[in-house]
Parts: sequence; C-alpha cells; structure tokens
Amino acid sequence: MKKRVGILISGRGSNMAAILQAARDPAYPAAIACVIANRPDAKGLQTARAEGIPALCIDHTSFPSRETFEDEVHRALVEHQTDFVALAGFMRVLTPHFITRWDGRLLNIHPSLLPSFRGLHTHERALEEGVKLHGCTVHFVVPELDAGPIIAQGAVAVWPDDTPDRLAARVLAVENALYPRVVGAMAAGRITLRDGRADVDGAIPDTSLVSFA
Ligand code: GRF
Repeated sequence: MKKRVGILISGRGSNMAAILQAARDPAYPAAIACVIANRPDAKGLQTARAEGIPALCIDHTSFPSRETFEDEVHRALVEHQTDFVALAGFMRVLTPHFITRWDGRLLNIHPSLLPSFRGLHTHERALEEGVKLHGCTVHFVVPELDAGPIIAQGAVAVWPDDTPDRLAARVLAVENALYPRVVGAMAAGRITLRDGRADVDGAIPDTSLVSFA
C-alpha cells in the first residue's frame, strides 16, 4: 500500500502541482490523500480538482482560534487516511497543538538555504546580504518557525543583476524538482526523524544540486 500524503497550501500551488505530476507515475511511492487550502481563493485548489484529487478549503477566518482551525484540518487529514503531511506554500503558522500530532510526519519547503533567512521575504534578504548561493530547504516541522531538522536542500547561484523576482523564479524551479523527490523518499520510508535529526537512508537523487542556469 502506498503511503498517502496530504498537501496543505495557501495559494498558487506550484509545489503541490509538481507532487501531483510526480504521483502520475505508477512507480511513485506516494499517493495523494487530499489537498487542503486555508484560503478559498487558493489557485492550487482548482489545479488539484482538475486532477480529480479531493481538494477542500478550510477557511481559517471562520474559526474562533488557531486550535479549532487546526482541529478541523487534522480531522480532514485523518478522514482522508493521510499518513504524512507536506506543507507547500502554506502561509498559516501552525501551533504545537497540530505539530505534535504529526511529529515526524510533517514536512515543509522553505525558500532559502536554512538556517539562513528564516521567515518571509527570503529572496529580498538574500540579495541585501549579498550571498552568492541561495536556494530552498525541505525540513521537518517543529514548533519554532523554519527551525526543524533539515532533510534536503537545493541551491542556485545568485547573479549580480538579480532581482527578487528573477531569483525567486530560479529557486522555485529547484523547489519544484526537489519537493516531489523528498515526498517520494518519505513515502518510501527512507526519511525518519530521529533524536532531533533527519535521518535520510541513501542519497535522494538530485537533491543537493547547484544550478547555474
Ligand atoms: C514557495 O516558494 C515555498 O517555498 C514557500 O511558498 C512558496 C509557495 O509556492 N513556502 P507554491 O504555492 O508552491 O507555488
């Protein structure tokens, strides 16, 4: 039986779409359990529905607290027999109330080479700092924001004439290549959280790439 991944989004959903695309291959180890958005206007919901994936909106604004919202997300994930969860551009901070229930089974992709540039506006900040390499990180989620054990990273070169948008586009291409591979490896049981570190069994192909393109 394939492990089932639930994907949480807030917007565009290109990382979600990349995982859906990978899952079309019968040999891909993960099945998509459901896609959940916290915003009704999340474009990714339409993409998922067009693929016949159960896609639901759980609008956080209609809940009295973070915890009641999280309870409903948890309930929906369980209802769809979710084994593990991938946050993919999910822009709502999750509390320990949710995170502890999915401990070791909750992944996020962040658009920087952590531990540099936690939080928002990572591409602008990378340019301000003058770093020469930038990229993305897939990590386990822990209560401290963007601080969980690192599973995989992808890097791009920063160009002298980069703008935040151009840099973001090149990083996103690496994100879209990296995340499906990590989700597949997770589903295959090759990634575990052990003693506060991500234990990755064998190399994940192409996950530590540096792209000069
Ligand atoms: C990505 O850059 C991701 O790293 C960040 O939010 C963005 C989401 O993009 N967390 P998309 O919705 O997957 O296209």
